[in-house]
Amino acid sequence: MSNLKKILINKKGKTCKSVWFMRQAGRYLPEFRKIRSQNKNFIDLCLNSQLSSEITLQPIKRFNLDSAIIFSDILMVPYALGQQVNFIKNEGPNLSKFNIERFLDMSEREFSQKLNPVYKAIEITRKNLDKKKTLISFIGAPWTLMVYMLNIKSSKAHINLEKLEKKSTDINKILNKLINFLCIHINNQISAGAEVVQIFDSWAGLIPIKNITDYCFIPNAKLVDFCRKNKIPNICFPRGIKKKYEEFNKIVKSDGISLDYEIDPEWAKSNLKDVVLQGGLDPKILLKSEKEMLEGATKYIHIFKDIPYVFNLGHGLLPETDPDRVKKLIEFYRNY
Ligand code: CP3
Repeated sequence: MSNLKKILINKKGKTCKSVWFMRQAGRYLPEFRKIRSQNKNFIDLCLNSQLSSEITLQPIKRFNLDSAIIFSDILMVPYALGQQVNFIKNEGPNLSKFNIERFLDMSEREFSQKLNPVYKAIEITRKNLDKKKTLISFIGAPWTLMVYMLNIKSSKAHINLEKLEKKSTDINKILNKLINFLCIHINNQISAGAEVVQIFDSWAGLIPIKNITDYCFIPNAKLVDFCRKNKIPNICFPRGIKKKYEEFNKIVKSDGISLDYEIDPEWAKSNLKDVVLQGGLDPKILLKSEKEMLEGATKYIHIFKDIPYVFNLGHGLLPETDPDRVKKLIEFYRNY
C-alpha cells in the first residue's frame, strides 16, 4: 500500500511520510511549458490521454514525489456537461452561457463518454507509475464548479450576490445534479486506476455565511459519503472558510482535510480532530529566500510531527516558482 493510503486509511502518520504538491504539474516546469506551447487549446490538451499522462509524470520524474495527481482540470466537468470552456490568458477560465434545461437533460452515458480520455490517461499513468506511489484523482466541489458555470464571480475575491439571489430557485437543482455527476466522475476515475480523490472547493470562502451549510458542508458531505460507501480514500479542500474548517470537519468527516495558507497550523492541530491534516504552507514562501522557505517548512513539520500529516502547500504551486526550490523543499522534508 502506498504511504498516502497508509496515512489516510490507517492514520499511520508517525511512521509514514508522504509529500505531493497541488499544481505539481504546471507552468513552473519548463517541460510542461514546452508541451503547452505546442498545444494552444487547454481543454484539448486535457483530452489528449497520452500527453496528459506524460505531464502527470513530469514532476514525479524530476522530484520523485510520493504521489502523482492526474493532469486534468476541475472544469472538464462543465465541459462534459455541455458548456464551452476557454482559458483566456491573464484572465482565467471563461465558460459559454449556462443552459439549465440542457444541463438537467444531460445523460450519464454521454457525460462519461466525453470524459473517457481522462479515464484513459489514468489507465496509462497507473501502468507507468511506480507501484509504491499513489495516483490521485480530483473533482471540483459543486459550489466551486457552479461559480464558474453561472459566472457569478464579479472579481477575484467577490461574488455577485444579486446574480446569486436571482438564480436561487435553480441552485439546489444544479447542486444536486452536479453531486450526481461528480459521484460518477469519482467512480470512473477510481475504476480506471486512481486510488485517492481530492475534492477542491476552492471558492468556498466566497459563500455568503447564511448559505455555507447548504452550498458547502452538505454537498461535500454527500460526496464524502459516496466515497466512504465505496471505500475511496478522500481529501477535502474547503479553501478560505477560516474557522469554519472546524464545523466543516465535524459535518463532512472526510479522511483528510487540506489546510489553506490562512489557517494557523497550531489552531488546526488543536481543533480539527479525527482527520488527517495536509498542507498549509503558503506557496509564496517558495518565492522568498531559501532560509525563509526552510524556516516556514520547519514550522509545519514540527507542529505536525506526531500526528498523521501529508506534506503539501496551502494552495497550488505558483507559475513563477523555481523548480530547484521545489526540489530543495522536498529534500528538506525527507531529511528532517
Ligand atoms: O498538478 C495538478 O495539480 C493537477 C492538475 C490541475 C490543474 N487544475 C491543471 C491546470 C488541478 C488539480 C487543477 C484544479 C483546478 N482548476 C482548480 C482547483 C485548485 C485551485 O487552484 O484552487 C481550479 C479552481 C481550476 C480552474 C482553473 N484551471 C483556473 C482558474 C485556471 C486558470 C488560472 C491558472 O491558475 O492557471 C486553470 C488552468 C490550469 N489548470 C492550468 C493548469 C496547469 C494552467 C493552464 C495554462 O495556462 O497553461
